[in-house]
Amino acid sequence: MGRTTEQCEPATNVGSANTERIPHSRPTIVETDIRVVEEVLASGQLADTAQVASFERELSSYIGQRGGVATNSGTSALYLALLSLGQNGRDEVIVPSYACIALLNAVHAAALRPIIVDINDYDFNISFNAIKRAVTRKSKAIIACHMFGDPIRDIRDIASLHVPVIEDCALSVGARIDGRKVGSFTELSVFSFYATKMLATGHGGMVLSRSEDTLSTLRDFIWYDNRTEYGLSFNFRLTDFQAALGRSQLTRLDDFIARRRRIAAIYDEGFEQAGMVVVPPRPDESVYFRYILQVEDADTWIERMCDQGVECKKPVYRPLHQYAGLDVRDYPNAERAYMHNVSIPIYPALGEREIEHIIRMVRTC
Ligand SMILES: Cc1ncc(COP(=O)(O)O)c(C=O)c1O
Repeated sequence: MGRTTEQCEPATNVGSANTERIPHSRPTIVETDIRVVEEVLASGQLADTAQVASFERELSSYIGQRGGVATNSGTSALYLALLSLGQNGRDEVIVPSYACIALLNAVHAAALRPIIVDINDYDFNISFNAIKRAVTRKSKAIIACHMFGDPIRDIRDIASLHVPVIEDCALSVGARIDGRKVGSFTELSVFSFYATKMLATGHGGMVLSRSEDTLSTLRDFIWYDNRTEYGLSFNFRLTDFQAALGRSQLTRLDDFIARRRRIAAIYDEGFEQAGMVVVPPRPDESVYFRYILQVEDADTWIERMCDQGVECKKPVYRPLHQYAGLDVRDYPNAERAYMHNVSIPIYPALGEREIEHIIRMVRTC
């Protein structure tokens, strides 16, 4: 059974600066990151000190939400966000077809029913029209993923449908719409700090909310010990050395984004000169978590690039409607993206010579 999805690629694929092949993803770890983690280790207090609370405060303030609850993964963040919506007799959760399998896992774990809808034909984000058609009286939530660094342009319209929206910002931390950061448009938003993400703590995640009541419900879920009354709760907490690493990276996130945009501009120029069409046109406020090209046959192209020393990936390993055994004809846009999309390396640690090599290889492959 294959397990390597783009968003869910295993940590062993993260690669290091020393491998010969240019890895698809690589975290940006500098001396300061190492020092802050060492400080936590040396303190002997590995969990439940102020680091996690500070990380929650700093990320929510960066995004523009009231507060946050850190978790051990983006999947557990999604799961807790769904649980926080409570029992209201509604059991359907609308999700995009072109996204990580983590969405299906979180929805099923919460004993809810995924309603899988297609994406846009002009970008890889969930389609507002498809959501409108899928909304029923049983809709409990909509999970709206800002894919690959590109904000969902009609997030405000999605938020106006009178169904709770969970903004999934796992792939787009720092992206904006009209200057406002994604993750701040709806009551709930979730983040992932997996090893390949823009903020990378190994594993990790966070739920942000604008409601103090929701935040307190979420905290209740993850404080499982020393309770006077029984309440369903889980040990999904982030450790302090992960939080310290996340905080350290957050101070440099805007630099990471600027560097990603710079690399994307170099790619745009290199590929346009060669007459290649880069689709979709990315909005100015994209953070370029991924740089996507469309090719005739994604699998063969990825193999050829790997042979040339450049690790590329399908940005979504398999669309969700296929896992669910639904009719592929109902998902033409996700199918097209799945067949033709390839993701090439883009991250701040990429050197100038590596960028040149990637452009040369893409142009010849
Ligand atoms: C859009 C999206 N949401 C949620 C997740 C789950 O995050 P995690 O891998 O931290 O559990 C992923 C996985 O990468 C993802 O791509």
